[in-house]
Amino acid sequence: MQWRDVVKVSKLVQDKPKMVNIGLKTLIVVHTNGSYYATEGLCRHMRWPLGLGGKVEKGCIRCPLHQTTHRLDDGGLVEWSPFPMFPPYGRVVGKLSRKKDLPIYETRVVGDYVQVKI
Ligand code: FES
Repeated sequence: MQWRDVVKVSKLVQDKPKMVNIGLKTLIVVHTNGSYYATEGLCRHMRWPLGLGGKVEKGCIRCPLHQTTHRLDDGGLVEWSPFPMFPPYGRVVGKLSRKKDLPIYETRVVGDYVQVKI
């Protein structure tokens, strides 16, 4: 594991996930409430890229597809595929894959860059 520069601080918009690729991995980096977070960039439900429409709210990242939600600080699962409720399609497709937490990565800011330990 080593620290890698992944994105310039100036390129991050508050509460907007920024998708970055490091080797074969896709991550998102988020600046919210004065902190920087880095997580796996693909939704744990059906691998939607969270940088495309993912919503940051109350310290969580929510996937736009079926609204699976994870905490940014520890990756813990908050809600698994609840959308849409009627018809109950979300719950049906939610059963297509096992519930999982979102892998997270340590971050720090050095100079102009957010670094991720990966
Ligand atoms: S792909 Fe993200 S919630 Fe279904």
